[in-house]
Amino acid sequence: PEASDVTHTGAMADDAQRSPRTPKHKTVLMCRPEHFTVTSAINVWMDPSKPTSTARALEQWHALHDAYASLGYDVELIDPIAGLDDMVYAANGGFTLDGKAYGAKFTYAERQPEGPAYMAWFEANGFEVHRPRHVNEGEGDMLLSRGAILAGHGFRTSLESHDELRGIFDREVVSLRLVDPRFYHLDTAMAILDDEQIAYLPAAFDEAGRRELERRYPDAILVDEADASVLGLNSFGDGCTMVIAERATGFARQLAERGYETIGLDLSELLLGGGGIKCCTLELRR
Ligand code: ARG
Repeated sequence: PEASDVTHTGAMADDAQRSPRTPKHKTVLMCRPEHFTVTSAINVWMDPSKPTSTARALEQWHALHDAYASLGYDVELIDPIAGLDDMVYAANGGFTLDGKAYGAKFTYAERQPEGPAYMAWFEANGFEVHRPRHVNEGEGDMLLSRGAILAGHGFRTSLESHDELRGIFDREVVSLRLVDPRFYHLDTAMAILDDEQIAYLPAAFDEAGRRELERRYPDAILVDEADASVLGLNSFGDGCTMVIAERATGFARQLAERGYETIGLDLSELLLGGGGIKCCTLELRR
C-alpha cells in the first residue's frame, strides 16, 4: 500500500510539472477613480444613499494597478473626467482586437459621454476606431475566448451590436443572454482563464446560453452563487495568475486545483458601483 501511495503522489506531481502554465503578456487600459462616487442607481448594486469614499476607491484601485505591474503587464491610462462617476470601469469603454477598437455606446445617459472619450483615446493610441451604431458596453459584454467573441446581451449590450461586432472583426460571435440583474454584464458572470478555459455562473444565463456553454466548455469551472455574489468572476489574468476578489474563496480553491496562481484583492469600494477587478480593466490587443 505504501508503494502505491508514493506512485500516486508522484503521478500527481508529474502532472503538475508536465503542464506548467505560461503567462501571456498583457496590455491593459485603466482609469484612476479620481471622480468615483455613486450618485445614481443604474444597476442593482448601486445605492446613492450609501456613502462612498473616493480615497478608498483610489487605494484599492492602486492595489490592482500594482498587482498588474508585478505580473509584468503594460498598464496604460486614460485621464478621468470630472462628473463621470463610472469612468473607472474601463472595461465598458470599448472592445479591442487586431488593432481595431469598437467604440461603446452606453445604455444610460450617465455614462454616455464616456463613449467618445474612450474612442478619442483609442484613436490617439494607434487603433482603427469603429464608431458604434448600436448600444453596447464594450468588453464588459464581450470576451475573447478560443478566437471567438462571447457576447452578452439582455441588460446593457444590444443583440444588434453583436452583428456589428461580427462585421468589424470577422470572428465568430456567440450571443449569450444574461438573466440575473446582479450579473448584468457578461464579465460579472464569466471569467476568461486562458486561451482555452473559462469559469462561469450557469444561473446567470438563459437555458440556451447554458446549453451553448456546456457544449463548448464541458470542463469549465462552474462557480457558485456565493463566489459570484462578491463579483468573484469579475477577474482578470494572464493564463497563469488570476487576479480575483479575495472574498471569492471557493473560486480561489477551484483555480488552485486547476494549477492557476491567484492574487486576491479587496475592491469593496468599487463594488458599491457594481464593478470589480475586470470592470476596471480593458484589454488592449493591438
Ligand atoms: N456602475 C457601472 C455601471 O453600472 C458599473 C460597470 C461595471 N462594469 C463591468 N464591466 N461589469 O455601468
